[in-house]
Order: sequence, then C-alpha cells, then structure tokens
Amino acid sequence: MSDAIVVSTAEEMLPAATAELRAALPGVRVEPLAPGTGLLTGDLDLATVARICRETPVVFVRHLMREIARLPLAELQARPDRLGEAAVAVLRAEPHHEIALQLWQAGNPDLPHRPDELWHMVADRLTEAGQIVRRAGQEWTLSVCLTPVAALLGLNRSSEALADWPGGRVKLARGREQISRAEFKLEELSKVAPVALPASGVALDLGASPGGWTRVLRQAGLEIWAIDPADLDSRLGDDPRVHHVRATAGRFLAETDQTFDVVVNDMRMTAEQSATVMLSAARHLAPGGLAIMTLKLAPHDPLRTVRNALETLARAYDVTFARQLHHNRHEVTVVGRKR
Ligand SMILES: C[S@@+](CC[C@H](N)C(=O)[O-])C[C@H]1O[C@@H](n2cnc3c(N)ncnc32)[C@H](O)[C@@H]1O
Repeated sequence: MSDAIVVSTAEEMLPAATAELRAALPGVRVEPLAPGTGLLTGDLDLATVARICRETPVVFVRHLMREIARLPLAELQARPDRLGEAAVAVLRAEPHHEIALQLWQAGNPDLPHRPDELWHMVADRLTEAGQIVRRAGQEWTLSVCLTPVAALLGLNRSSEALADWPGGRVKLARGREQISRAEFKLEELSKVAPVALPASGVALDLGASPGGWTRVLRQAGLEIWAIDPADLDSRLGDDPRVHHVRATAGRFLAETDQTFDVVVNDMRMTAEQSATVMLSAARHLAPGGLAIMTLKLAPHDPLRTVRNALETLARAYDVTFARQLHHNRHEVTVVGRKR
C-alpha cells in the first residue's frame, strides 16, 4: 500500500530532514508544504517509514502522519464546520470507536478560528457522531494539520507517529522545583523514547551547570558527579550525593579512576568535540552503561555535523536513539549504550 505521509520537523530543518529521508528511502519525494512540514510520497507505508526513521536513525523528523483527506483553505475559511464533517467522513471510512484527536498549525494559515477553537469544533462534531474523543494516549490518532494551503486530515496508529503529540510538539509544564529549562529535554525524551535509568548507581553529568539534569537524575535515585567550571544552583548545594567538580570534562576524565553507570553530557561545545569527550567518558562507563547527550548543531550543514558525531560515538557506543526533540533548539538528543 502507498501512503502520502506528512512529515514534521523543526522549522528550519525540513531541508536536512528531506536529505535524510531521500538517503534512507531511495526513490521517495518530499514536497515542502509549510515551514517544518513536508509531504512524503513514494511506494511506502507509514509503518515502514516509522521503523526506518527510528532505526536509521532519521534525526530531523519529529512526527509522521498518514494523510487521508484534504480540505482547501478557502473552503475552511468559508465553512469551518466542514472540518468536523471531513473528520467524521474519515472515521466512517475507517471506523475506530475511541480515538485521540490532535490538531496543529504549520506556518501561518489565515483562519477565522484559533487552533484550540477548531479542535473543540471537530471534537464536538465527532462526539455527536458517536465517537469517543481524547487528546492522546489512544491506539489510533486522528490528526488535523492546518497549513496555508489546506487542512490535511490523517489517521494512523499513534505508535507510528514517532511522538504522541500534535505534530510532535511536546508541551510540558514548568514545575516550581525545576532548575533549568534543559530539564525539559530529559522529560521529553522520557515521553517519546522511554530510557531505562538504573534505579541506583552513580551518574556522571558533564556540563552540569546550573544543575537541571543533575536534579532529574538525583530524583531518579542516582548519585551524581556534576562536572562544570560554572556554579550549580544553591538548591543542590546541601545534597551529600551530589559532588560538584569545578573542572572541564577533559581534565576530570583524565584524572579520575572512577567508573559510572550512566553518563550524560549537555556541554556547550561543537558536536565533534563533545562526541570525542564521550569516547573518553566511555572508558569510565560500565559495559552496557547508558549515555545521554546533546549534539550542538553548527548553522552550516547540520546533517553532516550529526553524521560525523554519530560516527565518532559508534566507536564506543551502540546508538539506540537520535532525534531533534521539540525542546532541542540547535541540537539533537542522542542515547546510546556502551558496548
Ligand atoms: C546548556 S548548559 C547545561 C545545562 C544543564 N544540563 C542543566 O540541565 O542545567 C551547558 C554547560 O556546559 C558547560 N561546559 C562547556 N564546556 C565545558 C567543558 N569543557 N567541561 C565542562 N563543562 C563545560 C558550560 O559551563 C555550561 O554550564
């Protein structure tokens, strides 16, 4: 079966994602639809594309949706109620009693209603037609992507979307105890690709300041060596299981003879330097030990930057996940296990 697939990326990363998709899936076409949104066509089905995105990995694709129907923007502007009718028609053709409804805007379509108003209009119409409608967490998701040319409607298994959030835009609330916004990156990762942290043990946090990741790992029950020349937040100061070392990662790794169960690295440095530091860190990591890091992207050729850094990491790690998450700005999150 051949599907048209709507692909979501960070706004400026559609060209990089297109290059990745063409390399991973020879013969496919990707046509830009809106900033950060493209339409993938070729002889493929969504399950295959989702699997290849995970396994390759295709790092700049955040979300996938199988397109089933389209409503031109002019029609939606004149008759917004048509969107609900189109959604009912999609589910009449492929019935699922309980679905998640997700709606998002790509680019700046000129619409008479806000996306949340349209969500309610569609949800009300579906409910009227006997559907049970949720926001997420269902086996099937009905998606509506509003672009400047049309509303695209999709229906697919949530597990094949890569992320169970509208367009992959994971929205998280800032808790009072949060130390830094960097914590969102670990929280988002735990939602889109659950990573099994050990329940106890010792973690090394490279580039730890001000201490958001250290806080999250402490909460998970780990003891932390937090390495950064800069300060840690005062809330971590009294914790006897947080050891702050004011040094660069390179110096610390050259001098320590400790071994760790987990290493995380959110250092602000080039992706290649950071991957090289991770090779030194691997010498202090137990076999099978977990590594989580961010690769900072240079504006020039982000895809090459990521590929080179992943190649370096592959010398010591099996990479199990690499993706530009919603909370990654100019960076990519990578997860691996020491071989
Ligand atoms: C984005 S911040 C880390 C935020 C942290 N993960 C959190 O959750 O609060 C990047 C940090 O990398 C640190 N850094 C940059 N180069 C470093 C190096 N060579 N060794 C250790 N830390 C470094 C900086 O001092 C900075 O505090």
